Order: sequence, then structure tokens, then C-alpha cells
Amino acid sequence: MRTRSTELRLAAHVDRLGEEHPPIELDSVDWTVHDPAALSARFGHVLDYMARVELEVDRNVLELVAMLPDPPEVDRRFYADVWQPQEIQHGLILDELQIRLGRPPATPDLDTVSAKLRVLGVLGHLDRVQDVTRMLYYLTGMATERSAVLAYNLLHDGVVEMGETAVAETVVAPIRRQEPGHYAFYKMSAIGLAEQLAPWQRWLVRRLRQLSFAPVGANDATQRADFGDVMETLGITDDLEDFTETIARVERELLWAQADGMRVPPYVLAAFRDAAALAAERRTA
Ligand SMILES: [Fe+2]
Ligand SMILES: [Fe+2]
Repeated sequence: MRTRSTELRLAAHVDRLGEEHPPIELDSVDWTVHDPAALSARFGHVLDYMARVELEVDRNVLELVAMLPDPPEVDRRFYADVWQPQEIQHGLILDELQIRLGRPPATPDLDTVSAKLRVLGVLGHLDRVQDVTRMLYYLTGMATERSAVLAYNLLHDGVVEMGETAVAETVVAPIRRQEPGHYAFYKMSAIGLAEQLAPWQRWLVRRLRQLSFAPVGANDATQRADFGDVMETLGITDDLEDFTETIARVERELLWAQADGMRVPPYVLAAFRDAAALAAERRTA
């Protein structure tokens, strides 16, 4: 269980996010686009990927409930009152933008909870296994939210460079502002829980991370290639080590402190390289 001080800090953080970051209204967006064809050609597939992942928050909540049948109250408040309401608006806004550019809407998977997660849920009724599952959830959340911040930064710069200031200022910037608070929640939670794990639990977390790590939203080969294309467009592919080091730094410190000289957990780098390779292969096919 968490220490009391971690618990209080998390509760204060969730309160603050709820007060300072209401969900973004569709009405607040200025949909002016000077050159829809050019924006669509360059970033259409990026908007689609991000819209899908953000909209899949509804499935993520189902997964969470299956996986963590008995979450701490502050976790439940975070995902029900802050995270889901914010992410769903991100998805709706990005999807609306791509539709206005003349693209088809995103096709999120809203209800497939994998058997793997259901098994974790059943095991999760054992308290000490539930801590392992929670740690996996926080680590996934950290990597996801950190990826989102970096990706929105790059998208923002690209959209500004194209002179599409309304999109930069009323779509990308407001969304981007909400992601660091999500990251901070997972980071605080992961650090707090890591201190409480027994060596066997930490070992199991490492093993399961090695077996199951995937870039955000990349659940099959097509989606992995799609993610590779997003990285290519945003200019991440050439800097994979730096990018993955940034998203997995805290994970490395929490799980792999004993591995001297490790810059990036190898499974993280391998998964991103695989996505880049699948995309390159598909482009030349
Ligand atoms: Fe988001
Ligand atoms: Fe987020």
C-alpha cells in the first residue's frame, strides 16, 4: 500500500487537474485551415492515429476495470473524473479536424478487452498480484503520456511551420497542455508504488514489461506500421534512442537501476525500432 504522503499528494494533484483543466469544448476550436489539402497530406495520418488513440480511452477504462477490480479511490477519481473526460475531448476534436480536412473518421476499437487483461483481473483479486498489475498500468501510463507530450510538441511545430495558426493555437496547444498532468499522475503513482514492491514483484513487473511492451495504440502489425509512419512524419525515427530514453527514463530508474550503463530498456527501443521498420517496409512494398 501507498504511504499516506503519496496518497495526499496524488489526491491534491487530481483535485488541481480537475479544477484547472476542464475538458476542452468543441466550441472553443477555431477550425480555420488555410490549405486543407496540404495539411491533410502532411499530417492527416498523424491526426488519425492520435484521434484513434485518444478515443480508445473508453476501451482503456473497460480494461482498467477488468484489470484492477479494486482500485484505490484516488486512481478511480483520476480516470473517471479527469482523464477519461479530457482524453475523449482530445479524440473528438482531432477527429472533427480530420473530417473537416476531407478524411474519413478514425475507427477506434472501443470494446475489445483482451483475454490477457482479463486474466490479470482475475489474478488481481490477490492483493499482491494486484500491485504488480497496478505497476504495469502506471508504467504504461507514463510511457503513453510522455509520448503524447513529445508528439504534440512536434505536431505543434509542424503545424505552425505550415502557417496553420488556428489549428496550432486552438487544437494542438490546448490538448498538449493537458497531457503533462496525466504524466505526473502516473509518475507519482509509479514512484510511490515501486518503493513498496517486494523483489519477486519487481522481478515479475520486469518480465511482464519485456513480454508486453508496445508503443501507444500499436496493438497489431498494421497499427505498429501506422505508428512507424507517425514517427517518420514527426521526425522521431532519426532520433529513436533519444526519444525512447525520454519516455522510459523513470521506468529505467525504477526497474533497471542495477543494469549499469543502460540508456533505454532494450524492449522499449526494440518495439519502436520494429514499428519504424514495419513502416519503412510498407512504404516500399
Ligand atoms: Fe490526450
Ligand atoms: Fe493524456
